[in-house]
Amino acid sequence: MYEYGENKITLRLPRPSDGFVVSELISQCPPLDTNSTYCNLLQCTHFSRTSVVAELRGEIVGFISGYVIPDRPNCLFIWQVAVAEQARGVGLALSMLRDILERNHNRQISAVETTITESNIASWALFERLAQELKAPFNKSVFFDSNKHFAGNHESELLMQIGPFCTQHES
Ligand SMILES: CC(C)(COP(=O)(O)OP(=O)(O)OC[C@H]1O[C@@H](n2cnc3c(N)ncnc32)[C@H](O)[C@@H]1OP(=O)(O)O)[C@@H](O)C(=O)NCCC(=O)NCCS
Repeated sequence: MYEYGENKITLRLPRPSDGFVVSELISQCPPLDTNSTYCNLLQCTHFSRTSVVAELRGEIVGFISGYVIPDRPNCLFIWQVAVAEQARGVGLALSMLRDILERNHNRQISAVETTITESNIASWALFERLAQELKAPFNKSVFFDSNKHFAGNHESELLMQIGPFCTQHES
């Protein structure tokens, strides 16, 4: 549960029935790339333990997709973070990240990675704040280059690596 003012936001694991609505939320959150509904359905199914949905009065207002990097079980990769406009600026994205990291079944995680385009000020602010909160060092480098990997059709995606860190877990 995340509260601000009179509002109570429920944070929970995504379920397959969320996939379609999540897809719509993402399409309302530029500059995020939209995904196929099928992709969001898989995130809400196979990757639900490392993803989160935020619900305000029964409406999905936030979503994070993440997965554990297959050959690095201690590293959580955050794929996308989406917060509906009406729920921005009150700490929801940060508390969704915290929610994933504090889950008992994620206690092996000691590093977070994500990619961010240089122009996404809000996203840099979010992940730098996360590093600060975790008291963890962070590092930035080019991961997917605009020309080399996107044929010049997309900004370069810079890798943000946070860690190592320790987190408190649910009892
Ligand atoms: C980026 C996004 C997820 C932030 O969600 P949010 O719930 O408003 O973020 P929070 O309130 O948890 O803010 C976390 C930190 O980032 C900062 N921040 C958030 N939005 C910001 C903005 N537009 N400009 C500057 N800083 C911003 C906050 O001030 C806070 O830092 P602080 O605690 O030091 O003040 C949201 O704006 C969004 O969905 N944007 C569109 C999609 C996107 O770009 N996603 C991220 C790429 S994966």
